[in-house]
Amino acid sequence: MVLVGCLERESPETEGLPGPVAAAVRRAAARAGWRGKSGQASVLQLGGKNATTVVLRGLGKRADLDRRGLRTWLTSAMERAADDGFKKPLVRLPHLDATSGTSGALFVFRELALSGYRFDGFLAKPRGNRLRDVRVVAPPGQWAAYREGWRRARKVAAAVGLCRDLANTPPNVATPQWMAEQAGVLAEERGMEIEVLGVEELEERGMGGILAVGRGSANPPRMVRLEWGSGEESVSLVGKGVTFDTGGISLKPGANMDEMKFDKSGACTVLGIARGASELDLPFRFRVYLPLAENMPDGLAYRPSDIVRCYNGKTVEVLNTDAEGRMILADALAWAATEKPDHLLDFATLTGACVVALGQHGAGLFSTDDDLAAELLSAAAEADEYLWRLPLWPNFGEEMRGLHGDLQNIGVRWGGASSAAAFLSNFVGGARRWAHLDIAGPAYVGRGNKSAFGSTGFGVGLALGWLMARAERS
Ligand code: BES
Ligand code: MN
Ligand code: ZN
Repeated sequence: MVLVGCLERESPETEGLPGPVAAAVRRAAARAGWRGKSGQASVLQLGGKNATTVVLRGLGKRADLDRRGLRTWLTSAMERAADDGFKKPLVRLPHLDATSGTSGALFVFRELALSGYRFDGFLAKPRGNRLRDVRVVAPPGQWAAYREGWRRARKVAAAVGLCRDLANTPPNVATPQWMAEQAGVLAEERGMEIEVLGVEELEERGMGGILAVGRGSANPPRMVRLEWGSGEESVSLVGKGVTFDTGGISLKPGANMDEMKFDKSGACTVLGIARGASELDLPFRFRVYLPLAENMPDGLAYRPSDIVRCYNGKTVEVLNTDAEGRMILADALAWAATEKPDHLLDFATLTGACVVALGQHGAGLFSTDDDLAAELLSAAAEADEYLWRLPLWPNFGEEMRGLHGDLQNIGVRWGGASSAAAFLSNFVGGARRWAHLDIAGPAYVGRGNKSAFGSTGFGVGLALGWLMARAERS
């Protein structure tokens, strides 16, 4: 099967296609009524000894087509091809900003690879048809860029796939211990150094935040640290790994609570980035920290008004046990910061307030460093992941000051994404620059959208793009 993307009111590009296919595409595009409008499609059967199906699909107007549009087009075209039982489509796209150069090629190949993603390991047998392989015709003059884009895209797509697989795994399987084991598998495969702290070690080190959150669960907490790579600059990544968030004693309402299996998405994102950065051989000294805990209500659970001491010595008055992400991140960030990284990034499904502000389409970005913020925003645009900077005004910091403790874990009702970020800023002293990404909205798609339900892998493409850009600069 050959799939040809056609721009509205432009003749289709056919260079690189077999002669008879190219001729058929030109004939079909010349037919009265063909416009190449978005959503328009035309199917041709070519007989003879190399029988093929040729599908023309409209991409709409060149000026209207951005990366998001191209991504939607690729996803639905591949879904349709799989439904129709094709196994190995050959794709020919026109020359566009979004499809040219290494970055364009990386984008196209990544989307094509991810369009085949399924989470079907828990099904008795897989559902529906699947594509086995997708090939792309490089536009003229783009051969080298396409080769390099393909090489990188395979690794990026595998990294996103790892994030999705982990995040989609249900919490009866994906306990803190299981997550630590998955980190162990990656560390073994990639020759990374790994350290896993259990309850005793957490107590020895004074990591009271993660211990408090994990106390109510029969699945005890873990803190994982990975280290690998070399280079002038060091990059530390921290990911919130709450394997299930019931809210604890400040129990959440029942509706949609199942979605809280995705509350470990930050940790999964960071493991995805770790896999990708290692396979792409990016020239940095990497450290990854995963605070892993399950937030449950129980006789041993931590309670509102408890005061706990975190790794950097600061005490926190717990006013709401559902603000647990910041409690476990406090210890992980403080540990990361003592090692004085050049760049410290954390990913967390931290607040519903961030989803209220930005919807489910994009993540909130918080940073005290304008240059780092600018770099991340540009990497996000390149990866077609929506990211929006939100403020860290000093007022938010004041809100989080405690009465009987140094800090309290909630602020006032308004601006909850910013007050959560302000809380985290108390634990990053020592890092040269820090950014927090609140991925509560875009990390997963809820059950309302049956075909898209599950983890998105948000953040992996963005972070790997940022790292690749930094590596090229230095
Ligand atoms: N895991 C939640 C945040 C969340 C909400 C993630 C919706 C994904 C979708 C977090 O632990 C939480 O419960 N945050 C509270 C904080 C509040 C108690 C200050 C929230 O956002 O309501
Ligand atoms: Mn919570
Ligand atoms: Zn949570």
